[in-house]
Amino acid sequence: MNSNIHIFETPEETARAVAEVILEKAKEKTKLSLPLNIALSGGNTPKLLFSILANEYADKMPWHIVRLFWVDERCVPPTDADSNFGMTYTNLLKYVPIHDSNIFRILGEVDSQKEANHYQTLLDVQLVKKNGIPKFDLMLLGMGEDGHTASIFPDNLNLLHAEQTVAVAVHPISGQKRITLTGTVINHADQVIFLITGVSKATVLRQIFKREPAFEKYPASYIHSQSGAADFYLDKAAANEL
Ligand code: 6PG
Repeated sequence: MNSNIHIFETPEETARAVAEVILEKAKEKTKLSLPLNIALSGGNTPKLLFSILANEYADKMPWHIVRLFWVDERCVPPTDADSNFGMTYTNLLKYVPIHDSNIFRILGEVDSQKEANHYQTLLDVQLVKKNGIPKFDLMLLGMGEDGHTASIFPDNLNLLHAEQTVAVAVHPISGQKRITLTGTVINHADQVIFLITGVSKATVLRQIFKREPAFEKYPASYIHSQSGAADFYLDKAAANEL
């Protein structure tokens, strides 16, 4: 895996660095009169980034050109504590001047297969395609302690190369259904950023970067951007075995 690793002292500094990358990309796009299409992940880690964006970037970010999509969604209503959209709304969206027409959430509350098909069509319509595949400007990913990313789990590595760009997945332990972008569209993005903090992720990161045998079963090992490299933004704790 080709990767650029950026290590920061604290989770705050790590999240702030990612916020700066987003701002810089948004400024570039503004100059070109183009939108900035971002796919957001859920889970706990992005909460800090979202709060920083809400508190420090509400006025600085050209929100009118930012268009938000989701990397994955849990199959629950948006009001459920597990909803990735709900988490993003609570920590970010309700504080910043982003128009509803720039928010493209995955509907976790409807039939999952129908929604996966619907979201795939939505991406086809809303994004510019390259080689027939919709292209995101920025993919913001996290990584689980089992090496999963998006909702591509170790027992379902075939989602990395699926024909479809959006698929239904099942969490291997909780059995919760998820809707996820597949590796096909993730690895096609202009830039892929992993935001990973905390010591609980340190061993898996070491195994991935040092190519220890376990790396093969981790979906995160196979992720990159269209140019071939992913950007890892890590705090010291996550990086402490590298
Ligand atoms: C989700 C995700 C998922 C997440 C990782 C890391 O909906 O759970 O998008 O891929 O990024 O599980 O989650 P944490 O940040 O909670 O560790």
